[in-house]
Amino acid sequence: MITEDLNLFLSNLNVFYRKLQNYHWNIIGEDFFDVHTKLEELYNNINNQIDEIAEHILSMGQMPLGRMKDYLDITQITEAENEKKSSKHIFETILKDYNILVENVTKIKEDADNQNKYSTSALMDEYLLNYEKNIWMIKQFLMNKNEKN
Ligand SMILES: [Fe+2]
Repeated sequence: MITEDLNLFLSNLNVFYRKLQNYHWNIIGEDFFDVHTKLEELYNNINNQIDEIAEHILSMGQMPLGRMKDYLDITQITEAENEKKSSKHIFETILKDYNILVENVTKIKEDADNQNKYSTSALMDEYLLNYEKNIWMIKQFLMNKNEKN
C-alpha cells in the first residue's frame, strides 16, 4: 500500500536526519569545516522532506507516523554510534543510505503511477533528482579521497 510505503519512507527520513546530525557533531579530520557544513545542508534538506512527506500522507486522508518508536520499529536505516568518525567513513555509510531512499522512492512512484496517483508520483520525481545528485557528489568526494590516500 502506498501509505505504508510512505510511512516507511518517513521513518527512514527521520532516522537518517538524526544520523546526519550525529555525524555533523562527530566528524573529525582535516576536512572538518567543509564536511561539518555539508552535513548540516544535507540534514536541513532531509528535515524539509520529513515535513513534506508527513503532510502529503495527510493530504491523502491518511495518518503519518509521528513517534520515534514508530520510526525505529520499521526503519531500514542503521543509526550512527556516538563516536568520532572520518569523512570517508561517513560518506561511505550515507551513500548506502541514499541508495535505500532511492529504492523507497522508486517503489512509491511505480505504485503511484499504477494507481493514477499523479501528485505522489510527481513528488517522488523531485526526491529522485535530489538523491541522485547527492549520490553523484558523494561518489566524487570519495573518489578524490581515495586518490589522495
Ligand atoms: Fe551545528
